Amino acid sequence: MTTAWQWRVIALTRCGGIVRDIQAFRPSPTVLFSLTSFSVFNFLRCFGCLLLGVMALSACDVRSGASTAGIGPDPVASPAAPAYVGATYAPIPGKPQPSAAQLSAIGQRIFFDPSMSASGTQSCASCHDPAHAYGPANALSVQLGGADGRTPGPRAAPSLRYLQTLTVFSEHHHDNDGDDSIDAGPTGGHMWDGRAGSAHEQAGLPLLSSAEMGNASVAMVAGKLEKAGYAGEMRQAFGEDVFKDPAAAFKAAGLALEVFQESPTDFYPFTSKYDAVLRGQQKLDAAESRGLKIFNAADKGNCAACHLSERTPDGAFPLFTDFGMIAIGVPRNRALAANADPAFHDLGLCGPLRTDLADRPEYCGLFRTPTLRNVAVKQAFFHNGIFHSLDEAVRFYAQRDTAPPRWYGRGVDGKVQRYDDLPSKYRDNVNVEAPFGQRPGAKPALTEAEIRDVVAFLRTLTDADAIDAARVASAVRPKPSSRN
Ligand code: HEC
Ligand code: HEC
Repeated sequence: MTTAWQWRVIALTRCGGIVRDIQAFRPSPTVLFSLTSFSVFNFLRCFGCLLLGVMALSACDVRSGASTAGIGPDPVASPAAPAYVGATYAPIPGKPQPSAAQLSAIGQRIFFDPSMSASGTQSCASCHDPAHAYGPANALSVQLGGADGRTPGPRAAPSLRYLQTLTVFSEHHHDNDGDDSIDAGPTGGHMWDGRAGSAHEQAGLPLLSSAEMGNASVAMVAGKLEKAGYAGEMRQAFGEDVFKDPAAAFKAAGLALEVFQESPTDFYPFTSKYDAVLRGQQKLDAAESRGLKIFNAADKGNCAACHLSERTPDGAFPLFTDFGMIAIGVPRNRALAANADPAFHDLGLCGPLRTDLADRPEYCGLFRTPTLRNVAVKQAFFHNGIFHSLDEAVRFYAQRDTAPPRWYGRGVDGKVQRYDDLPSKYRDNVNVEAPFGQRPGAKPALTEAEIRDVVAFLRTLTDADAIDAARVASAVRPKPSSRN
């Protein structure tokens, strides 16, 4: 059954009209904020959503307790209860109803608060830096965290921008583009493997992860919130007794973090050069235009097959991802601590970090397609952070199959092991469509000049506030051999 939460996402994505207007006309940040304030309360985001949401919720059985994300105990819905009962942000009798502005302000304080980590030194912003489009500020393949602040994480930290229409994970995704017959396969969900259903659910993971903020329990996090400088604001927003129940305080923090991560000026500003081009305010230069053509051409880069580059049918600006799960055979990063054990493999969708699809061999090696917006700000690419320059990441696409020894290690038999981060039984899962699929020694899909053009185009996807960080990132030129 579809949960209230899923309906919320559907309601949000159906409101492309508002998002499209924001993108096309760029109203002032205040207007932007007040528009997104609506997004917090799914039914209020627009009247269409209101109707859709109410219809949807009445159609499904909210009594089965599908939504447990509300703060405090979930009110039990009776057949006569209003349709919004049980929804994530629904009012709870006897509790104050926090405004979007209150939630966002509290979420922002938590996001930047190092006292929320076991080490006392690390906040969300340590790995998701606002000056770097909410991605990492350094070139490490994986960030360090944990109780000692030195434990390496299992994967590269992503940018938190442009996740506003990310849906919950589904094995069978159907695009809202007028043709519902095409099953796009596994899609969506937070994290590289889609294992977290929502940003509020997601927020609990880093707070408790032994490689991230390292708190041992929900109670430990709640105790810290109670001592924080914004505890008063939390009481005001969620009720005087919010700290009496650690689970309620933890949930409240998750919702606040989620709402903060939905604020448009911080998380989906649409201020890149390419956005200006889409608005007819700027033009791509010659190299960038050539790059875009190659990016889109099905027989060249074919990048846009997964990293969508055009306005959606309902007019929203492209996010440069379809959030689909795909195996592209990224080389094993032998420098990662977890990979010191040759038997360990991060197989994405089928585990081991994600556990619910462990019996689905066809999902082994699949990771969620990331947005390429602000990709030029990054200094470590792919889920294991194996590459440290954008050129090298694009070259990998061009030459993965034409020059395997360049990318992959050798097995005990001395032979090059293609797709060496996947046990051989899963290697058929790897995508071999363009730009991949040539024989070793054949002509690569892209020449060096074409790779440069694609990179020039990718640099037009940097938001205005991250241009300086992108400049610094491109000035760091690792040697081709330094992959760690
Ligand atoms: C030590 C570094 C580190 C810290 C601190 C950290 N994160 Fe992350 N974050 C990561 C990594 C690594 C991933 C990807 C993990 C995965 O895919 O398994 C991630 C993923 C995410 C995602 C999912 C993004 C997506 O594309 O689906 C969100 C949202 C997020 N973090 C928010 C937060 C919040 C909120 C905090 C603070 C409560 C936080 N992070 C603290 C490293 C960190
Ligand atoms: C079949 C789908 C697909 C196609 C086609 C595709 N990509 Fe990707 N892209 C992905 C997936 C999936 C990942 C993440 C894979 C991983 O980390 O294991 C990714 C990751 C990336 C990254 C790393 C981003 C980051 O944040 O670390 C870059 C850069 C990139 N792609 C550029 C391109 C370019 C350029 C092209 C065309 C030459 C292209 N992609 C074609 C699916 C695709």
